[in-house]
Amino acid sequence: MTFAWLKRYAPRSLYGRAALILLTPVIVIQLVVAIVFIQRHYEDVTEQMSRNVALELRFLADQVDAAPGPAAALTDTAALSGALGIELSLAERRARLADRRRFYDWSGRRVIDTLRAELPDVRWIDLASDDKRVALGMDSPHGTLEIGFPRSRVSASNPHQLLVLMVGVSLLMTVIAFLFLRNQVRPIHRLAQAAEAFGRGRALPYRPSGATEVRLAGQAFLDMRNRIERQIEQRTIMLSGVSHDLRTPLTRLKLGLSMLEPDPDTEDLLGDVRDMEAMLDSFLGFAQLDSLDDPEPVDPAELLETLARGAARAGQNVTVSGTCPTGPVLLRPMAVQRALENLIGNAVRHADRVELSCVVGERAVVFRVEDDGPGIDPAVREEAMKPFTRLDTARGQNRGGNVGLGLSIAIDIARQHGGTLRLETSERMGGLRAELVLAR
Ligand SMILES: Nc1ncnc2c1ncn2[C@@H]1O[C@H](COP(=O)(O)OP(=O)(O)OP(=O)(O)O)[C@@H](O)[C@H]1O
Ligand SMILES: [Mg+2]
Repeated sequence: MTFAWLKRYAPRSLYGRAALILLTPVIVIQLVVAIVFIQRHYEDVTEQMSRNVALELRFLADQVDAAPGPAAALTDTAALSGALGIELSLAERRARLADRRRFYDWSGRRVIDTLRAELPDVRWIDLASDDKRVALGMDSPHGTLEIGFPRSRVSASNPHQLLVLMVGVSLLMTVIAFLFLRNQVRPIHRLAQAAEAFGRGRALPYRPSGATEVRLAGQAFLDMRNRIERQIEQRTIMLSGVSHDLRTPLTRLKLGLSMLEPDPDTEDLLGDVRDMEAMLDSFLGFAQLDSLDDPEPVDPAELLETLARGAARAGQNVTVSGTCPTGPVLLRPMAVQRALENLIGNAVRHADRVELSCVVGERAVVFRVEDDGPGIDPAVREEAMKPFTRLDTARGQNRGGNVGLGLSIAIDIARQHGGTLRLETSERMGGLRAELVLAR
C-alpha cells in the first residue's frame, strides 16, 4: 500500500510540513495519554471511592434494618450518619426504579455500576437532579431508605485540571516552536527567492544565513552566480570587442569599394560587406542581451500588432490571428520584441504566410509564430536552437548575413523571463510553430 494519496492533502510549503511533523506526535501523544491514562485513572479512582462509600452505606443500612421501628431506625443511626456526612430519611415505597445521570457524566456511570454491584438492595440511584449530590433509595423493612451524600465522596474532584494543564502547556510549546521554526525557514525562503530572481536575470542582494546546511547551499549558489556572471561578462566583452574592432576595417573596405567603378563584381563584394556588417550586428546583439531593458507592463495584443505592422511595411505577409483576452503583462518589451522579430524573421525567410497569435494563462504568456514553410525536422530542432547553427546553409546562405543566432537569442530572452522556447509543427499551416513561453 502506498501513501501517494496522502500527498494531495499534505501541506506544500516547508513551513507547513515542518509544522505538521512537529504537531502530529504532540497531538497523538496527548490523545493517547488523555484517553488511556486519564480515563483509566479516573475510572479506577471513582470505583475505589464508590466502593468505600458503599461499605459505609451497607453498615448504615444494616443498622436501620436492625432497628425496631422507623423512628428508632433514624435516631439510632443519627450520630454515625452525621459523622460520615450522609443524610438518611425514610419514605413511602415508591415505584421509581430507573437510575439517572447526566449524559456527559462519564464517571457517573461507574459510580452507579459500583454502587449497584456492592449494594443489592438499592432501588434507584439519582445523579442527575443535583450534580453535586448522590441520592439513592434502598429497601428496608421500614419503607424506602432515602440516602444522600456529596458527590465529591465518590468522584475525584477537578479531573479536567491535568487535561487543561496538558493542553495549555503544549499550546505554549507549539507557539514557541513555531517561532523558532519560522526563523529556520526564512533563510531557505530567501535563498529560493534569490535563485528564482537570478533565473529570471535579476541579481538580488543575498547573504547566506541560517543553519549550516542552508548556509552551505547559499554559499554554493553565490559561487555559481558569480561564475555565471563572470562568464556572461567575458562573453560580452569578447564578442563586442571582436565586433567593434572588425567594424572599422569593414567600413574602410566599404568606402574603398564604393570608390571603384561600379561593376557586377564590386556590387557582389559590397553585398558581402553588408552581410558581414549584419553579422556583426547580430554578434553585438547577442553579446549585449543581458543589458536590455527592465520589466514593465505590456499589452501582448498591442505588441503583436506593432510587429505585424512593421513586417507589413517591409512587404511581408504577417498577420495577427485571434486576440489575447487580457490587459497588460509584466515583461521586458525590447527583449521580447527582439525575440519575436527573430522568430518572424526566420518565418518570412522560409515561408510565404506568417501568423502571430498569443495565449495568456494563469502562469504564462505564450506568443506563437506559425508559418506555412517547410518547418524543421523534429530530429534537428534541438540542434537548430544552439548558437551559430544554420540548417539551411546549402539552401540560402546568401540571403542576408545569417549567423545562426536568432533562435538562441530568443531562448535566452525566454529564460530571462523564466520561460522557454518550443519548436513544433503547425497543425493549421503546415510549417514551423515557434512558441515563446514567458512566465508571468
Ligand atoms: N520558420 C522556420 N522554418 C524552417 N526552418 C527554420 C525556421 N526557423 C529557423 N529555421 C532553421 O533553424 C536554423 C536556425 O535559426 P536561427 O534563427 O537560429 O539562425 P538563422 O536564422 O540561420 O540566423 P540569424 O537568425 O542569426 O540571422 C535556421 O538556419 C533555419 O535552418
Ligand atoms: Mg534567424
